[in-house]
Amino acid sequence: MTQRAINYYVGLTAILALGAVLVQDWSVFADFPRKDILGFSVLLILGLLAESRTLPITVGRRSGSTSSIIFVPLLSSVLLFGPAPTVLLMGVTGFVGEFFLRRKEMLRATFNTSQYVIAAAAGGFAFSLKGVGLVPSGVSFNEVAGPQTLGFLLFWVVFVVLNNSAVAIAVALSEGTKIRKVWLRIIGRSGTNLFYDILVSPVAFAVALLYQELSFLGLLVAVLPLLFIRHAYASIVDLQQANRDLLTALVKAIETRDPYTSGHSLRVASLAVRLADAMGVPLRKQKEVEMAALLHDIGKIETAYTEILSKPTGLTMKEREVIESHVLKGVAVLEQLSSFSREVVASVRGHHERVDGKGYPDGLKGDEIPLAARIIKVCDAIDAMLSDRSYRKALTLEQVREQLVIYSGIQFDPQVVKAATAGDVLETHQAEIMLSKREPVPDVERSEPTFPARAWLT
Ligand SMILES: [Fe+2]
Repeated sequence: MTQRAINYYVGLTAILALGAVLVQDWSVFADFPRKDILGFSVLLILGLLAESRTLPITVGRRSGSTSSIIFVPLLSSVLLFGPAPTVLLMGVTGFVGEFFLRRKEMLRATFNTSQYVIAAAAGGFAFSLKGVGLVPSGVSFNEVAGPQTLGFLLFWVVFVVLNNSAVAIAVALSEGTKIRKVWLRIIGRSGTNLFYDILVSPVAFAVALLYQELSFLGLLVAVLPLLFIRHAYASIVDLQQANRDLLTALVKAIETRDPYTSGHSLRVASLAVRLADAMGVPLRKQKEVEMAALLHDIGKIETAYTEILSKPTGLTMKEREVIESHVLKGVAVLEQLSSFSREVVASVRGHHERVDGKGYPDGLKGDEIPLAARIIKVCDAIDAMLSDRSYRKALTLEQVREQLVIYSGIQFDPQVVKAATAGDVLETHQAEIMLSKREPVPDVERSEPTFPARAWLT
């Protein structure tokens, strides 16, 4: 059903795009002086260069939406050459970018190209209501600045609204979520991503003015620095990804020592983000929650912990103290690494605190415990309870729900418990455990006298 809806939606978008191309006034190209043919070609090449590397923007974890600085050649094109050339620019850069540079699957590439064309055509129509387009040679850009600005604003609003809405509908259809929710994610909770679009827009005016003065050289002067900035940003994104991959590999390596906890931290991280999102935690903060959740047991890097946890007999007080020290050990490891914020370190430190103040290492109460730590505490317990142990089978969903409610306000933050027990959160997590399940090795752990304290400890 969903796939069929997506197919229809993409089909409709493609038909609309075709219609939008057909109604353009292509005769404008016949009147293009040689200078403008060259200028337009340069914009087209810059557009293709911009599309050669799109950058991820914070539009959620699964949707994988991206952004490129194509916005600048696009806006410059409408100011300088008007609607039809802009549709051509957007169509060609979108088509080449989607089908050849990024080699996206047919459906996605068709959709993206089509929605670009529709947004550019509709924006171009709005521009032509007030803007001039193709400023005649010999006429100073300043003389037409008034209508150009008005037309430009109309183009901007129509393009951004249509572009974002079309993508929001597509993402909502494929994820099965609400369009409004995706829309808010795309523009950022406080419009952060729109702010970026607004910020780069005046560059188009600089491009237009420089073009009037210096012809196509002016385009290069204005846009080349942007490409360099984009390259620097791309390098940062690559570094961040490499950093994350390394940390994930490290955490996985630590966890493979104990088959029962294999994949635990990654699952806790994914559940923690899901809960944080449901609780309305801002995206930037969600990244911190995710990172802290991934690293919460990094202190167990020392083999001494594995040896104690693998003991077939009960833990002595001394051994329990050693196990509890994994929290401060983890903090010490993270403090050695400069890239972690204080919030991430504080959240790792607080992941065994209890809201009633009886946790460790600091005995913090309620809101004194960082929110991320309160979220991780619940996720840690859920993942442990839903996993098999050598001394017990995994608890049922009902049992887990019951435990969460019983210890809400004692061990767990009631708000987090509310988010965790809502909808199909627990069911989804159980399915995730099934996916990453491995054959348990018997007799690695021993049973605990107090149910299920060991589960929450690990
Ligand atoms: Fe822990």
